[in-house]
Amino acid sequence: MRKAQQHAIWGRRGTFILAATGSAVGLGNIWKFPYITGENGGGAFVVMYLLCICLIGLPVLVAEIMLGRRGRASPILAMQRVARESNSSKLWSLIGWSGVLAGFIILSYYSVIAGWTLEYVTTAARGGFEGFDGVAANNTFTALQGDISTLVQWQTAFLCMTALIIMFGVTRGLETAVRILMPLLFCLLVVLLGYAAYAGDFAAGFNFLFKFRFDQLSLEGLSLALGHAFFTLSLSMGAIMAYGSYMPHNQSILKTAATVGVLDTAIALLAGLVIFPIVFANPGIEPGAGPGLMFVSLPIVFGAMPLGEVFGTVFFLLVTLAAWSSTISLLEPAVAYLTERFRFHRVAANLLIIFCAWLLGLTTVFSLNRWQDLSLVAGMTPFDLSTFITEQVLLPLGALATAIYVGWFMKKRPLRRELALDSSRWFVRWLTVLKYVSPMLIAVVFVLGIVDKFAG
Ligand code: TRP
Repeated sequence: MRKAQQHAIWGRRGTFILAATGSAVGLGNIWKFPYITGENGGGAFVVMYLLCICLIGLPVLVAEIMLGRRGRASPILAMQRVARESNSSKLWSLIGWSGVLAGFIILSYYSVIAGWTLEYVTTAARGGFEGFDGVAANNTFTALQGDISTLVQWQTAFLCMTALIIMFGVTRGLETAVRILMPLLFCLLVVLLGYAAYAGDFAAGFNFLFKFRFDQLSLEGLSLALGHAFFTLSLSMGAIMAYGSYMPHNQSILKTAATVGVLDTAIALLAGLVIFPIVFANPGIEPGAGPGLMFVSLPIVFGAMPLGEVFGTVFFLLVTLAAWSSTISLLEPAVAYLTERFRFHRVAANLLIIFCAWLLGLTTVFSLNRWQDLSLVAGMTPFDLSTFITEQVLLPLGALATAIYVGWFMKKRPLRRELALDSSRWFVRWLTVLKYVSPMLIAVVFVLGIVDKFAG
């Protein structure tokens, strides 16, 4: 493995944690988690989500970091190397392939939603939320959904921002952004939590999130919880594998993964604890409001609190930045592939992928208005279909393949070496869960979820 030594390795201890957290914390935590929790009834969904994180998400996260560090190359190549080392079939590098595809599709709709946050930055800065109630907030959001040129303008702006940071060097910019802005986002969420506790219906919000009710358990919820666990941890797409390949050998993978998992989950729960007390205190907003939940609840707060303009602007800016540090990891696998396989220049590869993602993203934009009632399959608009294919099909299948490969096919020697810094007790626990529990759960939930979708 002579070549492996040429692959860059991050010098500073915290860089991997920062990069992985930057990738994990994004729209998934602040926008998506509260809204799918709201649509699926609350407490029971949260429990299913937490179980999916612990029993499936974290073990697969460890496996992915380990594969990347072992392979010391971009995902497809890293998989080929690891497979060669363990004498297993080259076909396992298909895991890398499905990741490239999933990342590209996610990027296409992710940038549209990140565009909404940009629009809300400008509205907040103008003081546009002054005196907002539930109805006004809803109207503003609905108007934005119908305004194709504004949607496309911000989607384009966001993708250009992404292109810029990638052209001017990822590590520097990303590291500073994550080191300073992520803690700031966390602090701001805590401030908002204080405000939500004071001005909102905190008890109702808390109960909604954490009170478990059996009758709310549903197959659809379980399948969404599983997909979201992968989505929020940025799994099965090669992103974490790509970052893992830069991780120094003297770091414990289990501890690192646990830190990333805890931070990611904490931010999601915090966002929920901010949003739901506001939802329950304001008539005109429903917990099941769907994708607009964050965009109709938070403006009410910013319109009413002292210095709301400043807080609102900073908040939506930070969400955009959190999305930004996630987008970079969505692009990386596809870019790495084009440069390695077809000798593309990095910048050219980036621009090409960003342009294609922009084109595909237009189908998401139209799904919000003109194509609202268009049903491609099983009543899904192109936007629904993009989220379905990625979160409910490609991510679970990628994770399933990863778990099966590492649990059953990879040789124990290299495996144990990568996790040498962790106690053998934890190593055995991790491997047992990854070998038996994770694949079974993923397979069952995956099949039931598909059946439920197409039978229903
Ligand atoms: N985890 C990010 C979020 O929660 C989204 C994301 C970034 C992602 N990279 C990914 C999702 C890779 C799946 C795979 O917003």
